[in-house]
Amino acid sequence: MTTTKLWGGRFTAKAAEWVDEFGASIHFDEQMAAEDIEGSIAHAKMLGKQQIISESESAEIVAGLVALKKELDDGMLAFDVKNEDIHMNIEVLLTQKIGAVAGKLHTARSRNDQVATDFHLWVKHRLPHVLDALTELQETLLQLATQHAGTIMSGYTHLQHAQPITYGHYLLAYCEMFQRDYDRFEFNQKHTDMLPLGAAALAGTTFPIDREFVAEQLGFNDIYHNSLDAVSDRDFALEFLSNAAMLMMHLSRMAEELILWSTYEFNYIELSDDFSTGSSIMPQKKNADFAELVRGKTGRTYGALMALLTTMKALPLAYNKDMQEDKEQVFDVMDTVLAAIKIFTGMLSEITVHKERMLASTQDDFSNATELADYLATKGVPFREAHAIVGQLVLTGIQTHTPLQNMALADLQAAAPQIEADIYLVLQSETAVNRRTSIGGTAVANVQKEIARQYKNLEARQ
Ligand code: ARG
Repeated sequence: MTTTKLWGGRFTAKAAEWVDEFGASIHFDEQMAAEDIEGSIAHAKMLGKQQIISESESAEIVAGLVALKKELDDGMLAFDVKNEDIHMNIEVLLTQKIGAVAGKLHTARSRNDQVATDFHLWVKHRLPHVLDALTELQETLLQLATQHAGTIMSGYTHLQHAQPITYGHYLLAYCEMFQRDYDRFEFNQKHTDMLPLGAAALAGTTFPIDREFVAEQLGFNDIYHNSLDAVSDRDFALEFLSNAAMLMMHLSRMAEELILWSTYEFNYIELSDDFSTGSSIMPQKKNADFAELVRGKTGRTYGALMALLTTMKALPLAYNKDMQEDKEQVFDVMDTVLAAIKIFTGMLSEITVHKERMLASTQDDFSNATELADYLATKGVPFREAHAIVGQLVLTGIQTHTPLQNMALADLQAAAPQIEADIYLVLQSETAVNRRTSIGGTAVANVQKEIARQYKNLEARQ
């Protein structure tokens, strides 16, 4: 009994439908339909130009593919799981449209270099969206940082009050992280922007193909120079997943702070109604669901990276069907990161910042203890000794509920005679912030300079 499979020549038995379904990828790789047609058009043009098929056959094939692309755009193409994957579905549809000449399209090509080409194109087309979204997010952070260059809040280590910082300085820290994410996704383009087509199944082809021409047609910057590598490399996809995992880690850390800071206990910020949800039972609730979801989706992103790394591990050269598992991870993560960045941009642009509350958090605590220790150190007291003296004062302060700046001068001097009346200015959070002028420090003037520098980075992208 013969089969209807494009590769069915040497087969006698027909697999059961459920077996076919296990092997099929059309339910997800149909997302690459546009790229598959695009790649085939370039290939068909090259076959004609090189006289591998006649110019008129090439033109017929190209016209058929262009017509299919139009039907695809109009939502008129229907794929069939019997045809396994997007490559064979398109070929079958082309055959229905233009007849047997469609069979010449697959000359000097294999599905192995075809799928790699489609996948490269798919990622190549979408990386710029990630870069644009990151730019918008950074712009939003810089706008907010400009408004809050002088907004004082508590800085934390171990989630304990550490030293006063500005909210602007905090925001710039994330802007730096997203800058590194941007750089990584930008570099990701280098390894994505390479043409595998022409590697054929694994060893290259006997036909006189012109790979440079195909690369140029498809807008690829470079071509693979080893046919085995061309069909087996998924580094560009792994780099994307790894960059995405790191980006989601950054978003998740910030999400955690947004969630924590909008609690009753902190009350540093409030998320807008647009980016919050209520409770079906507790009428007072305003939940940071979207920040939570971004934090939650970090899990599936890490999972995708682990899944593909594990799939690729120990795969012998060249193509193996295992590699069909690459696409769903990348498709899902692309959707996830684009949505997550967008949600964050929206959430931050509508945030309400409770400045007074942030400032107050630095005034009833002991986050100015380092100021007093530094003050004594500049007066010649060895820092370790100064640390011990201030530690004693803090202990008294905790017992008597008296912050350092509210202690009487006589009491401070009893602990350290070097202390003079100018200490009260030194102990103010604003002074603590503005004296931190070392490069990268939190002083307001520094923050303003850094905002300008980061804006320049963004402008350089245009
Ligand atoms: N659907 C396959 C994939 O996604 C296409 C390549 C199939 N090649 C093969 N030799 N079976 O990897």
